[in-house]
Amino acid sequence: MQLDVFTLVPHAYAWLTEQRPVATVLGSELDLRLFSYRDTTPLRSGQVDDDPYGGGAGMVLRVDVVAAAFDAVYGGQPAHRVVALSPQGRPLTQEVVEELAHEDVLTLLSARYEGFDERIVEHLCTDSISIGPYVLSNGDLPAMVLVDAIARRLPGALAEGSGEVESFSAELGGGLEYPQYTRPAEFRGWHVPEVLLSGDHAVVERWRKDHVR
Ligand SMILES: C[S@@+](CC[C@H](N)C(=O)[O-])C[C@H]1O[C@@H](n2cnc3c(N)ncnc32)[C@H](O)[C@@H]1O
Repeated sequence: MQLDVFTLVPHAYAWLTEQRPVATVLGSELDLRLFSYRDTTPLRSGQVDDDPYGGGAGMVLRVDVVAAAFDAVYGGQPAHRVVALSPQGRPLTQEVVEELAHEDVLTLLSARYEGFDERIVEHLCTDSISIGPYVLSNGDLPAMVLVDAIARRLPGALAEGSGEVESFSAELGGGLEYPQYTRPAEFRGWHVPEVLLSGDHAVVERWRKDHVR
């Protein structure tokens, strides 16, 4: 999958690219490309946003800046899906992640301050996604959330079996994963459920099924 992120802070993604599972699939299943709006802005001095029409506080990401970035990278409007990260977008769920992970090429747009000129969302994007009902300072944490959530759905991202049975998966009927425990079996009088120490896989499976939340 080719995943393109347009941002003002491409360097901020360095941490993400060093973490598994993104690091695991980078260069094979995932081609993550980071573009700065500043590198292609048609405005002077690297300007990318401007005052809102109608007045008010803050700055708005300009439509001509995003269009110029697309011209430079794609030679015009891309034919694939383009996602604006926005608090007004469709709520992100595992279902949305699975849907996006099936795309061959995907573009994510991050904004800051007051957000996007609405014409970017209307005319240059196919989707708008919110990672939750709260406001963050920019779209880079949301974009990283999406990159990570998508990366772990790509082939080879996770150890065999570990991506199939987890919260929100079909295996768990869309529910939340059962409780997990590790050593020590007893700590401060807090005991691991006896059944998990039994070594009886069928019994363990039944217990786990009963404890899907
Ligand atoms: C400070 S926010 C803009 C908030 C906007 N003025 C509003 O009131 O809805 C700046 C940018 O951060 C990103 N952002 C903030 N919260 C987000 C969320 N919950 N989901 C996705 N993106 C978000 C978006 O790219 C947004 O344009």
